[in-house]
Amino acid sequence: MKILVIHGPNLNLLGKRESGIYGTKTLDDINELLKKLSKELKVDLDIKQSNHEGDLVDFIQNSGDYAALVINPAAYTHTSIAIRDAIAAVEIPAVEVHLSNIHRREEFRHNSLIAPVAAGQISGFGYESYLLGLRAAASIAKKSGSRSE
Ligand code: DQA
Repeated sequence: MKILVIHGPNLNLLGKRESGIYGTKTLDDINELLKKLSKELKVDLDIKQSNHEGDLVDFIQNSGDYAALVINPAAYTHTSIAIRDAIAAVEIPAVEVHLSNIHRREEFRHNSLIAPVAAGQISGFGYESYLLGLRAAASIAKKSGSRSE
């Protein structure tokens, strides 16, 4: 069972970027924690990051081999109809994650265009949002896998 983690724009700067909001772990630190957890959960993990909206759309369109997605679309959460449409098109369950609690921040971050097409949203637990997101994705993937057997 394969799960794909997608990190959106500026997340490559984690650790250096507004650490009061996003924490001090780098993206590599978070990816290592995700890989460790994936072994525990017995799922195969691929991880991608891009700062470009079209790349994120391509990652989603090409995710046919995966049982579930974990995605932090970062700023595109609030603007990207293209990413929303791609998730809706592939019909693979997607767990939306955010390090910060987007609902406690500036008003323009309160709306997620992704949430209505996501299986669920995890927001506000720092790097642990990703770990919770991976647990959720693995659980959803296992359930949908057993339904189709
Ligand atoms: C974020 C929240 C977004 O509003 C912001 O643009 C980000 C990161 C988060 O993980 O908290 O880049 O997705």
